[in-house]
Amino acid sequence: MTARDRLAPLLTVPLPDGDAPYVDLVEGRPGSRGRIQDLWESGGGAGVYDWVVGAGDRYGSHMPDLVGGGVFRDFYGVARRLDLVGGETVLDLACGPGTLTGHLAEGVGADGLVIGADLSPAMLTRAARAVTAANTVFARADAMALPLRDASLDAVCCSLCLQLVPDLETALTQLRRVLRPGGRLAVTVPAHGRGPFRAFTEVLARGGQARLFRRGEMADALVRHGFVRVTTRSDSVLQIVDAVAPGAAPPRG
Ligand SMILES: C[S@@+](CC[C@H](N)C(=O)[O-])C[C@H]1O[C@@H](n2cnc3c(N)ncnc32)[C@H](O)[C@@H]1O
Repeated sequence: MTARDRLAPLLTVPLPDGDAPYVDLVEGRPGSRGRIQDLWESGGGAGVYDWVVGAGDRYGSHMPDLVGGGVFRDFYGVARRLDLVGGETVLDLACGPGTLTGHLAEGVGADGLVIGADLSPAMLTRAARAVTAANTVFARADAMALPLRDASLDAVCCSLCLQLVPDLETALTQLRRVLRPGGRLAVTVPAHGRGPFRAFTEVLARGGQARLFRRGEMADALVRHGFVRVTTRSDSVLQIVDAVAPGAAPPRG
């Protein structure tokens, strides 16, 4: 059975026919979601982003902790943060050019399933080219209305997406809904810079029509949505927060 076949029973909408590199589960384009998102939807923007995160993946883990090496390790080490085991089903929400999708695919092994979802066709085209693992399928989907059944996932990675959604509460409700009890969530969001960088990050975010998170804001939001075991690994320019959906997890193995 292909990854695409295995996706079908998890969906709340019919799986479109065809052999495009990703399945399109969004009708049309939901209108502009801000200047930064417009950039991510363009071929040029997706290309530049792909180049930057590819370099970060290759070299970031060699950086000393003093200059942020630990943040790079946590960012790219998302399979470890999610404590993935073989056979699990994981959503890489806002997968971009596949920055973390390959790491997740390794984490769940051949029997697992990774769904790389994003709103941007340009990003999805790159992701599908970069990650060709048989256990991975790509879909165009909107974080605001995930076309996935309740409690259908063991884990969700949501990296650098929640600053772009029109309504954070709706997106978090969706994340909680699709995770099974005890399912794990790994989130990264941009935060306000510190000291002299603060004004710079704020101008960038305002110009790009994206939001920045205050210290502890993402952790608080997850607690408000009922998540438990909320752990903040980094509260600097990248806020890295992991959490678990409430309820008893089924036994592993
Ligand atoms: C900065 S990139 C992050 C990509 C990757 N997750 C990473 O950490 O490198 C942001 C991505 O979020 C996607 N995105 C923004 N809003 C979205 C939404 N409502 N639903 C799905 N994807 C979304 C964009 O298309 C873009 O690919």
